[in-house]
Amino acid sequence: MCGIVGYIGKREAEPILVEGLRRLEYRGYDSAGLATLTGNRLHLRKKAGRVSELGSFLQTSPAPGCIGISHTRWATHGPANDVNAHPHLAGTGNGQVAVVHNGVIENYLVLRRHLESEGVRFHSQTDTEVIAQLIACHMDGDLVEAVRKVLSLLKGTYGLAVVSPRNPDLIVGARLGSPLVVGIGDGEHYLASDPSALTGNTQKVAYLQDNQLCVLTSDEYHIFDAEKSRVSALVHSIDWTPGESDLNGFPHYMLKEIYEQPEAIENALRGRLSDADSSAHFGGLNLDVQQLRRAERIIFTACGTSYHAGMVGEYMFEEFARIPVEVEYASEFRYRNPPIDQNTIVIALTQSGETADTLAALRESKRKGHPVLSICNVVGSSIAREADGGVYLRAGPEIGVASTKAFTSQVTILALLALFFGRMRHLSSIQGARMIDELHAMPDLIRRTLRCQSEVQRIAEKYFHVDNMLYMGRQYLYPVALEGALKLKEISYIHAEGYPAAEMKHGPIALVDASTPSIFLVPRGSIFDKVMSNLEEVKARGGPVIAIASEGDAAVTDHVMSRADEVIVVPDVPEYLQPLVTVVPLQLLSYYIALLRGCDVDKPRNLAKSVTVE
Ligand code: F6R
Repeated sequence: MCGIVGYIGKREAEPILVEGLRRLEYRGYDSAGLATLTGNRLHLRKKAGRVSELGSFLQTSPAPGCIGISHTRWATHGPANDVNAHPHLAGTGNGQVAVVHNGVIENYLVLRRHLESEGVRFHSQTDTEVIAQLIACHMDGDLVEAVRKVLSLLKGTYGLAVVSPRNPDLIVGARLGSPLVVGIGDGEHYLASDPSALTGNTQKVAYLQDNQLCVLTSDEYHIFDAEKSRVSALVHSIDWTPGESDLNGFPHYMLKEIYEQPEAIENALRGRLSDADSSAHFGGLNLDVQQLRRAERIIFTACGTSYHAGMVGEYMFEEFARIPVEVEYASEFRYRNPPIDQNTIVIALTQSGETADTLAALRESKRKGHPVLSICNVVGSSIAREADGGVYLRAGPEIGVASTKAFTSQVTILALLALFFGRMRHLSSIQGARMIDELHAMPDLIRRTLRCQSEVQRIAEKYFHVDNMLYMGRQYLYPVALEGALKLKEISYIHAEGYPAAEMKHGPIALVDASTPSIFLVPRGSIFDKVMSNLEEVKARGGPVIAIASEGDAAVTDHVMSRADEVIVVPDVPEYLQPLVTVVPLQLLSYYIALLRGCDVDKPRNLAKSVTVE
């Protein structure tokens, strides 16, 4: 949520900052801005709207200088307009400071009122301006010291970058709860909220920890802890492949990422299945066998799409590992105080690894002494680093705001973990070997599933004008119903709800009418007939039905076809893997409906990738 890029070196900063912002734009896109320095002159350029608006503005008003900070915003305080865009300035002349900030300053009103009572005039409605005004007030010629003093006054979260003409040869950064990384170049340094902003510039990065402050010059970077002592940070090499985050001929990242799912699943499985012991293996769980064997309960904690993947995991763990599982919204879990027995493992699921609520839930669980694992996509992210151990998705960058390949990768990893825990307990080697074969088959089966694209597109053309849509599934497919509804509402702005199919008659069936289509997930399986009965109940009330059914068995398929208005067939797979094949047509349906409604698929309104505020 929001993106920060800073540069100091010998090259012109502006193009580097703008390119970095473009890479981070998926994290927030309601305004963008930058501030550069030439000697003791500060050049501020900011605009409401996308980074492209800022780009056009810079064509007519370039920002010169080899040092600068920049920001792309997802509004928290104050609407998206030019004034509220970052950077925020305070002070005058040489003592001016420019600040960009991610996070939320919770005590900003108290601080603002105090400053106003002393005659300070504010220009924006943001919480960030308070930081700028405070630094300007404390500025006594030493920017680093001024920032340090101000940090101790702030309550909340921040990743921030500051420059001032008074100290024209440095950038100061600080982190508490909002990620920040130093990019290390040759005679140049970068600061970013996400290493992907540095793609093409440097692969060497050092992550700041909470309560750390950094000072960058062209030639050096220093990181300090809260006690002002210098700390030596580990330098990581980021593994990005040039072009990985390009569109590769696809019109949108979301579509590209839907089509990357077979490969993402292949990557999730690679090297993790062992025929020798009919189980799965992971390099980084970092828990000893006894701890794993002793697990009496598992809690998955996550938000949004990752939460839905966790719900699929609950069914898998209960079926294969016979371990009781609970799935908790991280935003609720962090403030609850449920009694948790000692032998409970908490697993945080997250694509970005930066979701504020999931990070807080992880910290709270650690504080209570539970082993905490993460299932995460972004290498080196806060959650991946703070967990005791974990498993990476290896799905590659997910840029589209609507999560697609991260969901199917998470479900794949959860199947591997269910196999792993199952083989430690009750699962026979024959069952384990069968699961391995079934998992190996999935990438090709997803490739086959993607062939439904033209059929899905036809259905989208028929229904894109509706105002409401219902999604129904049971057991393993109830979370998929929720996920399908989430995908539709977030990118097409159609109201959609997912339900366990049998719950319909307890209330939601009142919504069914001729203009409200219901999507039924009815692949073959143990409760096929039950779900078909639920489908009939909707048909009987005049609701159009789109069914997702299994290919293969003509009698079953014919039965679904005779009852539903539209049928999309997907490969016949074991029930625990049905979420993987059934979610694909739902992703495509949302994509095509959103497109037909003229929505910005990759950057839906009001949203941002990576929710780093509470
Ligand atoms: C929906 C979506 C969000 C995220 C949620 C958690 O398409 O992307 O619901 O799943 O914000 O994000 P992560 O997985 O990064 O913790």
